[in-house]
Amino acid sequence: MSISRRHFLAGASALAGTAAIGQTTQSPRTQPIAGSLPPGTPVYQSLVPPQLPTLRQAGASRNLPTGCAVSIPALRSDPGYAQLIRQQAGIVVAEDAMKFGPLRPTPDQFFFDDADLLMAFAQANGMQVRGHNFVWHHQLPDWFASYVTPANAEAVLVRHIETVAARYAGRMQSWDVVNEAILLSDALPGGLRNTPWYRLLGPRYLDIAFHAARRADPTALLCYNDYGLEGEVPEEAAKGEAVLALLRGMQARGVPIDAVGLQSHLVAHAGGYGGGLQHFMQQAQAMGLKIILTEFDVNDRYLSVEIASRDEVVAALYRSYLNLTLPNPNVIALLTWGLTDRYTWLNINKANRDPRPERSLPFDADLHPTLAYVAAVEAIQAARPRPL
Ligand code: G3I
Repeated sequence: MSISRRHFLAGASALAGTAAIGQTTQSPRTQPIAGSLPPGTPVYQSLVPPQLPTLRQAGASRNLPTGCAVSIPALRSDPGYAQLIRQQAGIVVAEDAMKFGPLRPTPDQFFFDDADLLMAFAQANGMQVRGHNFVWHHQLPDWFASYVTPANAEAVLVRHIETVAARYAGRMQSWDVVNEAILLSDALPGGLRNTPWYRLLGPRYLDIAFHAARRADPTALLCYNDYGLEGEVPEEAAKGEAVLALLRGMQARGVPIDAVGLQSHLVAHAGGYGGGLQHFMQQAQAMGLKIILTEFDVNDRYLSVEIASRDEVVAALYRSYLNLTLPNPNVIALLTWGLTDRYTWLNINKANRDPRPERSLPFDADLHPTLAYVAAVEAIQAARPRPL
């Protein structure tokens, strides 16, 4: 059932009266979760047009945990954001707080305050949590390059994973153990990316990481996460084949891996999605791997200036991509990368891009539902329930 845009906007604008919640001013690090709205603030009615369920409710009705990446600074400082996450997310992942750099201020210290806050928030609100990520070439701490050597790299990697995974063992739906290890243009064997971990340990860094994660948390699904696997262009098909070959090799060596993460960072008007993605998902399923849509958003930087048409195109891509992927029963969770355009990563480094804010997520910068939200809810409702 699709509701008309006019009808939807009438409902959404009726919500427009809910004032934007002011930012509180306490220092970010010590801020508890923004739970109580300042006195006198108009309490958010449901930000959801009354005839539609929340993303969380829609996902739960199909046994498809549905949620988003969460910004911890925003969770601490923005009551409206915190309330929207509580309302809409059945599963959450830390946008940054569980990455190597944010967790590791020095070689001998771990900073868990932000990750712990998300875990407590999730527990208090009955949410599942996925971890992101143990191994990546971005967001490594400043001390990494001078401290980690080929001689100590394995010990550093294993200690990191065992310490972090053990802290949350039994409470994680899944972990992105390794993120974005394939980059064909680096022309390394198997299409591996020339990352710091590759230079320190060679390709075995992946096996070391997955084994360490399994030892430390036997209950979490262990996931390899990557982008640029979804499109129909030859480069993405080739990258998909390289990822599948990587995972087959790991399985052949007895490396514990349970899932592949399709980041799903789509770009409107950058070509379609279809047979290539179906092929990748079928191959993954044949390998016994689950699929998680880990970072779904639609970048609208190339669309015309008029917002209404941008929203229509973005929503149509939400609908077509989810109608393509969700019928696959191996797709076991759906997370958008952020929930509201107020904090989307896509507005970072807007240099030489369209200066207007992105409209890439189910809720706009005013925390009002977008047409993408309607499309996502309806696509989830159109999917078959996952086996329990
Ligand atoms: O925390 C520091 C802060 O102390 C400092 O004042 C500020 C200015 O320098 O930087 C802050 O760190 C930023 C961090 O986000 C937390 O906000 C980093 O500069 C910034 O680079 C980092 O961006 C993140 C990006 O990954 C890093 O490449 C984005 O939030 C995050 O959404 C994005 O997420 C990635 C996934 O992890 C993997 N898949 C792609 C996705 C989008 O790039």
